[in-house]
Amino acid sequence: MLTLIKNGYVIDPASDREGCYDLLLEGEIIRAVKKEIDSDEIQQEADKKGVRFTLIDAKDKYVMPGFIDLHVHLREPGYEYKETIATGSKAAAAGGYTTICPMPNTKPVIDSSDMVKLLLKKAQEEAVVHILPVGSVTLGQDGKELVNVKKLKEAGCVALSEDGKSVMDTALYAEAMRQAANNHLLIFAHCEDKSLVGKGVINQGKKSEEFQLPGICNAVEDIITARDILLAKETGATLHLCHCSTKDSVAMLALAKKDGLKVTGEVCPHHFTLSDEDILSADTNYKMNPPIRSRDDVEALKEALRNNILDVISTDHAPHSEEEKSKSFAEAPFGIVGSETAFALTYTELVKQGYLTIKQMVEKMSSNPAKILGIDKGCIGEGYVADLVIADPNAEYTIDKKQFFSKGKNTPFHGRKVTGRIEYTFVAGRMVYRSENVS
Ligand code: DOR
Ligand code: ZN
Ligand code: ZN
Repeated sequence: MLTLIKNGYVIDPASDREGCYDLLLEGEIIRAVKKEIDSDEIQQEADKKGVRFTLIDAKDKYVMPGFIDLHVHLREPGYEYKETIATGSKAAAAGGYTTICPMPNTKPVIDSSDMVKLLLKKAQEEAVVHILPVGSVTLGQDGKELVNVKKLKEAGCVALSEDGKSVMDTALYAEAMRQAANNHLLIFAHCEDKSLVGKGVINQGKKSEEFQLPGICNAVEDIITARDILLAKETGATLHLCHCSTKDSVAMLALAKKDGLKVTGEVCPHHFTLSDEDILSADTNYKMNPPIRSRDDVEALKEALRNNILDVISTDHAPHSEEEKSKSFAEAPFGIVGSETAFALTYTELVKQGYLTIKQMVEKMSSNPAKILGIDKGCIGEGYVADLVIADPNAEYTIDKKQFFSKGKNTPFHGRKVTGRIEYTFVAGRMVYRSENVS
């Protein structure tokens, strides 16, 4: 199979390439990146070889390395009514993602090599994007007994995470970090002090008062962020801070980097797009963990993205059923979907608003996650696997949750006007998503 993508505006931070290029894909691989590739010649070659030829006109479109999401919840096994590997990976592809890292808080938890193998087998059969699993830190995420770190690594995990909560036993977490470092596994940290959060469900402040709901103060995140950075320093672990939401957590990340520690941080589109002032009613589509914070925090997050303190934009795609989300704000589960809105929100809120250049956006959505994972992805170069995304930066539209591939429709962004549409996603040279809007 030969695919020629013509006249696209290529953005590839890994090779520092930005400009108009033609891309030729052969089978799974990027065969050529050139200023001009003759389509007649490729057509003739395809005829001669008897293979299919696809020509894509990418004029005025962005051609980027496929996005890599370090943080999704696929819900399989155990919660297939919320999402499956098939639907979650299709949602990812529709969002421009070609590689995703599912978190282990499934039922059963991904805490053994058998579970990892099962997940990878299912992914092989049903996923349309690459799946790199994250294993839990403790058995059953019970916070008591460590997983077999070496075996999880051997089975194919790229990181360990207790996402959904923190490991509150500091000594146990230190041991997990030591073993993770010895086995070249990353630690993805969900920072939340369980003893301090209490029954909190929304950012502590005017809104928690207005809706008379228990609040979550910034210290809930900040205390564990500080602890985890110190533990990484002590143990030599490579630490990645999940969904940073507070001003002080990014200040600590900046300090850790200055100190030369192996610490990186991510932020999710909902945390830089919304502040708690945007929560006009106790709508559970605004309930996630960590919560949407104050305007001050949002500004700090955007500034940290701009000056590259925050390395990654991830989604924390967290689908839940309509029934679960129709409970009261206090009772509904935390989490919103994000795979299918991340690019448009990032482009609209950060690139168009001048916080990030398009190159920085691609760094944070593709090349930096690849670097953190230590994988040969996130770049557009000859000989690389053809994981690519093509987007129209001028398309203006309204987000419609009814069009999501995800089973989860739990988003606060339904009806929001955005700019930037994913048109095509290629995984290993295969078109896994094509927007209905391309002719
Ligand atoms: O909002 C969230 N949802 N935060 C988490 O940490 C877990 C996630 C989920 O699994 O639904
Ligand atoms: Zn989390
Ligand atoms: Zn999560």
